[in-house]
Amino acid sequence: MTDKTPLLIDTDPGVDDALALLMAFNDSRHDVVGLTVAAGNVGLKHTVANALKLCEVAGRADIPVFAGCAGPLLHPAPDAGYVHGQDGFGDVGYEPAKHKAEAEHAAQAILRFSHAHAGKLLLVALGPLTNIALALKLDPTLPQRVARFVVMGGAVTCQGNITPAAEFNIYFDPEAAHIVFDAFERIELADWEAVIAHGLHHARVAEWLKAGTERGRFYDRISEKTRLWSIDRRGDHWFAADALAMAYALEPDGALEVLERPISIELEGRHGRGATVVDWRRQEGLPDKAAILMRYDQDRFESLIQAALAAG
Ligand code: BDR
Ligand code: CA
Repeated sequence: MTDKTPLLIDTDPGVDDALALLMAFNDSRHDVVGLTVAAGNVGLKHTVANALKLCEVAGRADIPVFAGCAGPLLHPAPDAGYVHGQDGFGDVGYEPAKHKAEAEHAAQAILRFSHAHAGKLLLVALGPLTNIALALKLDPTLPQRVARFVVMGGAVTCQGNITPAAEFNIYFDPEAAHIVFDAFERIELADWEAVIAHGLHHARVAEWLKAGTERGRFYDRISEKTRLWSIDRRGDHWFAADALAMAYALEPDGALEVLERPISIELEGRHGRGATVVDWRRQEGLPDKAAILMRYDQDRFESLIQAALAAG
């Protein structure tokens, strides 16, 4: 028996997913029980290969990786290969991991882990919510067994990154997001606007990447392309979205301001599709279900990243 918190991560690696995973691997109070993988940043073949490779590089090939949905529930959506590289890991041509994904589907694995760790499971979603929506369709009682559910997604005043109003993870599969946001009574949310408020200065990131560890060297390679893209497009700060969500998940006491509000997912409209509509003034009388991260201790966030890259 372990008194560590069981942590299940649904992810679409993805350069910022990789950083978040390294943070989770480096946390002694959490036990990463599995990675369930979705398509999102790039296609499923790549996101699964990337998850396996990251585990191998980190010496964590013992963590089972489960392939999930190869696309959104209903409507095809464009990926983010232009940010993360066409293979999702910067197109550096890494040698594939030696081990393979499990045979079990990610949605079934989510349900199995929810039973195995009922009442204790920390579920963190770093990609489109397709796998979790499918798990909910298979078994709507899933939320009863999840202790905490942390999501990277949304843009809480509709200042999106993929459309003017929508954030990538939600926009990629709004129907899945609708199912998930409807089903869970409480969702701890690190949205894109919080990410923008917690940028990482490129010069500091470059310093951390000199750690000289295998993890740091690999991360330097796979993240170079997206960091250069970011300098070109977004200026001095890098926005590692999934890393902020993981900081909130691993060390929630680092949150300096959290606001609870009702939230719903918009499915239609040229500008509205994929938007996360927060009822800031509680006009509709719906229950508060999103615990929205507004401010996180920046020093704590940066220390978690630095330590994850320096870990050997
Ligand atoms: C989210 O979209 C993806 O590109 C990132 O991995 C992150 O999960 C940010 O909007
Ligand atoms: Ca992601």
